Amino acid sequence: MNTDKKREVWSTKIGFIFAAAGSAVGLGNMWKFPYVTGMHGGGAFVLVYLLSVIVIGFPIMVAEFMIGRNARQSPVGAFAKLGGTRWWKLVGWLGVASGFIIISYYSVVGGWILDYVVKSILNQFQGSSVSQIEGMFDGILKNPVRQVGYHALFISLAIYIVKGGVSRGIERWNKILMPALFGILLLLVINSLLCPGAKEGIKFLFYPDFSKITPAAVLEAMGQAFFSLSLGMGAMITYGSYLGRKADLMNAAVEVCILDTMVALIGGLVIFPIVFSYGLPPSAGPGLFFKTLPVVFSKLPWGGLIAFLFFLLVTFAAITSAISLLEVVVSYFIDEMNWSRKKASLLTGITIFIFGIPSALSFNILSNLALLGEKNVFDSLDFVATNYMLPIGGLLIAVFCGWFLPKKETTDQPGNNGKNFYFYRGWLLVLKYITPVAVSIILLQKAGLINF
Ligand code: PHE
Repeated sequence: MNTDKKREVWSTKIGFIFAAAGSAVGLGNMWKFPYVTGMHGGGAFVLVYLLSVIVIGFPIMVAEFMIGRNARQSPVGAFAKLGGTRWWKLVGWLGVASGFIIISYYSVVGGWILDYVVKSILNQFQGSSVSQIEGMFDGILKNPVRQVGYHALFISLAIYIVKGGVSRGIERWNKILMPALFGILLLLVINSLLCPGAKEGIKFLFYPDFSKITPAAVLEAMGQAFFSLSLGMGAMITYGSYLGRKADLMNAAVEVCILDTMVALIGGLVIFPIVFSYGLPPSAGPGLFFKTLPVVFSKLPWGGLIAFLFFLLVTFAAITSAISLLEVVVSYFIDEMNWSRKKASLLTGITIFIFGIPSALSFNILSNLALLGEKNVFDSLDFVATNYMLPIGGLLIAVFCGWFLPKKETTDQPGNNGKNFYFYRGWLLVLKYITPVAVSIILLQKAGLINF
């Protein structure tokens, strides 16, 4: 096992916040949040999502940072070190497996974004009709060579960055790119809110129709909160393990949760007004993002340039998330197997690339292969990882931090001065009693083991 002294550390507090926010803000916010919201009927789903962020996501994020910082190890090592028995190590293993599965199909979507960057450089969106743009996306899905090629390109970028270490370069890039992404999103929101369908879009997103809340929708909303906040698989444990002793975890978690939720909601506010203005179905699924946004770009003055900048920034948001997924797998081999960073990044990266190929072929050659019910390989992996692996991982992390870590370790934190005392107490109470119960009820209800 590597010793503490070799461990890399974030250079600044803000560098850590940006890296954690960089992990959280990604395709989950802009691509996935709008489309799962669309598939589950809008406002009511958003409400359950927000509740999940507050009651489940935030407490677990603090717990993950804490476990990582206290152990200064990646998830498997962290649970081995703090947990005592070897059973807890399994939670770390579950995290490594989740990271492996998620990045394998995340990279395929990252590839679609890269394809869109190229399309915007070639100015293909300008002057295209809505149906032509829909056709472009379907064209990407149907082309196996292109899918696998862009998947390879995206994962190579992630491997390249992770191979270089948690460098200051990434921290610095994040500091420039995240605000830039915000700026462009604001511009797009203003544009969307001026669309004729704005009212309907906003109503869809914020007006809760409680008849739409099914157990499946609640499970999906909770899973989405885990996915979007990068929780339940140890990504935040790993990032927390590079943290200095003095950082205030509670504060960091508040900031990351707010930022991530804002980007998701803004993503929805950009997309739904367009959906309703152009009569597209909100329940279009994974293609929603790719079929709606170019429509706006094609109408905007300077649309070609804005499209290029936007997809480039989304690429960066996706990359900063992908590296945190890959880092969980890579740091396992570095910490536990004593592999060099170079060897670990290359070997795991190539294996993940191969494992991701069936997802890339799910929309063409393998489109008739159904794994779970009607779902193709891509959707099945996403469904299992997001809705089951992450919540189960998160549940165990909450139980571990709330019930098994000595109380001194959880409350003796730098941010826990007089002012924050009750905040820490409140957090620990929620983590011990409310978070695990809420996650368990949702999982059991979905599994049909309990019924309301
Ligand atoms: N949070 C990332 C996103 O929203 C995805 C992710 C999930 C990253 C789990 C790390 C761990 O795109």
